Amino acid sequence: MCGIIGYAGDGYDKEVLDVLLTGLSGLEYRGYDSAGVALADETISVYKSEGELEELEAILKEEDVPSVPVGIGHTRWSTHGPPSDRNAHPHTDNESSVAVVHNGIIENYESLREELSAAGYVFESDTDTEVVPHLIHHYTEQGLDEEAAFRKAVEQLEGSYALAAVFRGSETIYATRQDSPLVLGLADDGTYLASDVPAFIQYTDEVIYLEDGQFATLRDDEIVVTDADGTVLDPSIETIEWDAEDAGKSGYDHYMLKEINEQPRSLRQCLRGRVDELEGTVTIEELEDLPTPERVQFVACGTSYHAALYGELTLRERGVHTQTFLASEYDRSSVPIDEDTLVIGVTQSGETADTMRALRQAGRAGATTLAVTNVVGSSASRECDYTMYIRAGPEIGVAATKTFASQQTALTLLADAIEDGERREVLAALRDLPDHVQSILDGSNAREIAAEYEDSDAYFFIGRGYNYPVALEGALKMKEITYKHAEGFAAGELKHGPLALVTSNTPIFAVVTGDDERATKTIGNVKEVEARGAPVVAVTDGQSDVERYADHVLSIPETHGRVGPILANIQLQLASYWLANRLDRSIDKPRNLAKSVTVE
Ligand code: F6R
Repeated sequence: MCGIIGYAGDGYDKEVLDVLLTGLSGLEYRGYDSAGVALADETISVYKSEGELEELEAILKEEDVPSVPVGIGHTRWSTHGPPSDRNAHPHTDNESSVAVVHNGIIENYESLREELSAAGYVFESDTDTEVVPHLIHHYTEQGLDEEAAFRKAVEQLEGSYALAAVFRGSETIYATRQDSPLVLGLADDGTYLASDVPAFIQYTDEVIYLEDGQFATLRDDEIVVTDADGTVLDPSIETIEWDAEDAGKSGYDHYMLKEINEQPRSLRQCLRGRVDELEGTVTIEELEDLPTPERVQFVACGTSYHAALYGELTLRERGVHTQTFLASEYDRSSVPIDEDTLVIGVTQSGETADTMRALRQAGRAGATTLAVTNVVGSSASRECDYTMYIRAGPEIGVAATKTFASQQTALTLLADAIEDGERREVLAALRDLPDHVQSILDGSNAREIAAEYEDSDAYFFIGRGYNYPVALEGALKMKEITYKHAEGFAAGELKHGPLALVTSNTPIFAVVTGDDERATKTIGNVKEVEARGAPVVAVTDGQSDVERYADHVLSIPETHGRVGPILANIQLQLASYWLANRLDRSIDKPRNLAKSVTVE
């Protein structure tokens, strides 16, 4: 899982290097172990460095970098070989005749490496990728032209890849993909390729989503897309509806804070045109002919898994048999699947390898598949029979925030679209949701509370029912960006073991919405931890009397029981953000993580 960028310019309007560096900064969320570029002209100049992009930029400042017509770049999240200069991409053959960048994993690289080593190729890195430039060189040596050699090399690869290659003395970029994303951009002053649109959105909004198995050649004035046999195709050109401002920080210190604050808008977008509150109807245009399933299975990872748990509850409430699986644990042989099964992959990026694998398994077993995703044209949207977009806009911060709220909202709508329920009240609450989120953002005291607890040993989050996935998500966010120990529990589970961890230095975030039996029981659990000296932060809409037992309160507006948990999560996002901020963590790019996890 990495990010790749390429630009074929006309050599006048823009420096290729500038375009590549801008592109890499828009892709850093995909990995930041190392970065590199290859600039191709009569020679290929490669510059690369371990660490974040600024390390590479520092090196480039010292160099006399040539102006060239084409170049490629890469930002890495390590899979094969530790982060280091030598493992940074681009990789070249021993004669520097070709340079390659790659996102994905080449599964048969060991056997290819052995064959190439036996043929005299010297490997300079520990990566799987390095077999590609050597293979290409091998075929050019046999007399194949650049394009034929690139294709022939790709034919030998097993695994997942988005690949781009530039050749010495050539003004063309060759690219292809299999199970890793690749999008192409068209503009008057050149052509672009990247793992994701934010890499070049400031230059063009006209894009082509390359499909698995397709090849592309990029020159300054044209992109030619072909299939595996070389037949020229006529791909559709799509227009991206958001702009560079959406993908930038807009004055916030971090993308994460910007994205938290964008939630009123992203939720409005998610709801737009889908809800008729007066009629009490939900219309999801993309799903109009979705057959009513007999059973539903969710597959997802991380934050999206928490959203799926929330979705499971909304469907169960309507009597739909629903199960949720961590995508990495999904095994179709051990769960019943037939043509009346709907398997829903919840995935912000639409590229997560574990989720993609589970969806493919389900599709092969005859299930109807549905992607609930944020990224138009993503692998999940192409793989599945149906796609529902959550319309959150680009999310750059590695920690998912606005997309979680949009996933919860989309799944609430989806449950209504699949099976009737008591809609009107929920729909009225959803109508008010963006304003309610805004009022939380305007009045939150999460920053002060975070300051009080920055030195705590651990942070625990508890909730029941719809608030249980919110507790899990609160803890994931906290551990992810503060690097502190945090765990989420079903409130009733505390007494079955975790209570042993509770001390006066482990604050408990208790999510209590409404005033029903679940709230009463959770308050019982709050009293248990209070009796053991733990400070309690209640996240509440004020309907119950949990405040009486809490040291601090994070307030949310009163709303429908299914919507309150979406609001509660906003306060938890802010608490994690401000705590990480006080600890001076790398909030947008937490250590060891990447946004789009395209390895299993
Ligand atoms: C946490 C986070 C991850 C992702 C997970 C799945 O903040 O972002 O846990 O939720 O990697 O990613 P998607 O939703 O893209 O499938």
